Amino acid sequence: MMRTVTVPIADRPYDVVVGAGARTGLSALVPNGVRRAAIVTQPGISFDVDPGVPTEVIEIGVGERFKTLATLEQVTGGFARMGLTRGDVVIGVGGGMVTDVAGFAAATWHRGVAVVHVATTLLAMVDAAIGGKTGVNLAAGKNLVGSFWQPSGVICDLDALATLPEREQRSGNGEMAKYHFLTGDDLVAMGLEARIARCVEIKAGFVAVDERDGGRRALLNYGHTLAHALEISTGHRLSHGEAVGVGLVFAARLAERLGRIDEARVEEHRRVVVDVYGLDDAVPADAQPDDLLTLMARDKKALNGLTFVLDGPEGLEVVSGISPGTVVEALSAMDRNS
Ligand SMILES: NC(=O)c1ccc[n+]([C@@H]2O[C@H](COP(=O)([O-])OP(=O)(O)OC[C@H]3O[C@@H](n4cnc5c(N)ncnc54)[C@H](O)[C@@H]3O)[C@@H](O)[C@H]2O)c1
Ligand SMILES: [Zn+2]
Repeated sequence: MMRTVTVPIADRPYDVVVGAGARTGLSALVPNGVRRAAIVTQPGISFDVDPGVPTEVIEIGVGERFKTLATLEQVTGGFARMGLTRGDVVIGVGGGMVTDVAGFAAATWHRGVAVVHVATTLLAMVDAAIGGKTGVNLAAGKNLVGSFWQPSGVICDLDALATLPEREQRSGNGEMAKYHFLTGDDLVAMGLEARIARCVEIKAGFVAVDERDGGRRALLNYGHTLAHALEISTGHRLSHGEAVGVGLVFAARLAERLGRIDEARVEEHRRVVVDVYGLDDAVPADAQPDDLLTLMARDKKALNGLTFVLDGPEGLEVVSGISPGTVVEALSAMDRNS
């Protein structure tokens, strides 16, 4: 079975097609009148797609260190060589790294050309390819240069996951665990296809009400304040999704210290992250609390002191001005490992 989820952005809604074999729906997502497609992908992702128009393939480097302006220049140089026009389409085939770069290249090429994403990692399917945030990193930080550029459509073909390394699978699980707490849905009881479709629907709901991330969309950062700090302090030894798993349990411990939730709710976080999604909830032994605190104070959300998305009686909300002492206490309540 195939499922279609619509991302209901007011003036340009688009479809996300989820299912085994969903790639057969790609040509239907390509805007009318397109004559050619530039496929942006990486070596090692052998996932052939047919958008129904002539294509040229542009391969970019593998890994976060290639998510740079230099790669943007390489990709747009490829567009120039093939003479890609504003009436053509860019197709990003890959994980979040590829869809972020392809999306940003599309946003800026001739000041904007259509883009369709074919997500090939679990993380890209449930998160990165949806919602129109695109960009690249600078030495000074992640995703510092980018733009909002919604795709014309997204394909989440479960067949792509067959070749995905186990660790990348786990990374996607971190975001799935996050969605669990955003809604209270029992995602676990669903099959993979229904679960991915539901995650897309949840994200679409947040994006539709707050496309440019001024309010509710911030809740999608649940678990991410500590996660980003852990990614940096471990030199990316922890993958994004692995770090989000730890960050979710930490956010629960912090909420408990602040009297917002009880111990049973903390245990529910641990159960989902560790027992259900197979992630670790321990803070790596080499991540020093002081360093983590400094990094968390630099978070984009931290406009008024240490800021976290926290669970509470009214559900999740953004909470500012949390004292460093409380954060350190919550950190010391976490398991540690080497
Ligand atoms: N725009 C957003 O809203 C958003 C949200 C979350 C994350 N992101 C970004 O997404 C990126 C992370 O994405 P990711 O976790 O997908 O990592 P990734 O894109 O780096 O992919 C991970 C690895 O898997 C490989 N790969 C991809 N598909 C494969 C397949 N089907 N089979 C085998 N190997 C495959 C890739 O080549 C890469 O080596 C980060 O740059 C992050 O900033 C963006
Ligand atoms: Zn994330």
